[in-house]
Amino acid sequence: MLSLVVLISGGGSNLRSLLAACQDADFPARVVAIGADRDADGLDLGEEFGISTFTVPFTSHPSRDAWGDELLEQIRQWAPDVVVLSGFMRLLPPRVVAALSPNLLNTHPAYLPEFPGAHGVRDALAAGVAETGASLIVVDTGVDDGPIIAQERVPVLPGDTEASLHDRIKIVERRLLVQAVRDIATGHVDLKEHSHI
Ligand code: GRF
Repeated sequence: MLSLVVLISGGGSNLRSLLAACQDADFPARVVAIGADRDADGLDLGEEFGISTFTVPFTSHPSRDAWGDELLEQIRQWAPDVVVLSGFMRLLPPRVVAALSPNLLNTHPAYLPEFPGAHGVRDALAAGVAETGASLIVVDTGVDDGPIIAQERVPVLPGDTEASLHDRIKIVERRLLVQAVRDIATGHVDLKEHSHI
């Protein structure tokens, strides 16, 4: 059984799909803890699904490295096989990435390497592209440029707003995430083969 710690900053709708998948006895992974860098709404999913949560507030630490060290400490208490960043809106310090990668995944709402960064959906709309996408990558020390595990195109529709497009992308992100976790757990994907560092 693959054990996961999932880190969030927001509502955690992608996390909810993963938790729902994990409720299936045949699904080969379990979320052992949910972590956040702030008082994220998605932490409520811990109570709903009976899963422990922890919060390491970025703003209560003197530096990014100090925050990262505390976050790593909390993650390690759960000894997860894989850590998933699912809407986690902070850059991890390099030493945290080095400690966890390649067993460190990030979902991104664009077809990387197109539109990296915090505003992937907005940037795709502003660029006027006909299609964007969803990606799941291994996190390494760059910004959204780690090895791609899975990705899929999503069309931009006439009249799309950032919210409507993001909602459709997230449907794909959730499916990619659940399938990738299954593939990693069953050995069909070996994260060690997807490592730049
Ligand atoms: C996802 O699109 C993720 O890729 C991005 O933030 C969104 C998280 O949404 N970084 P949610 O919190 O899972 O609803």
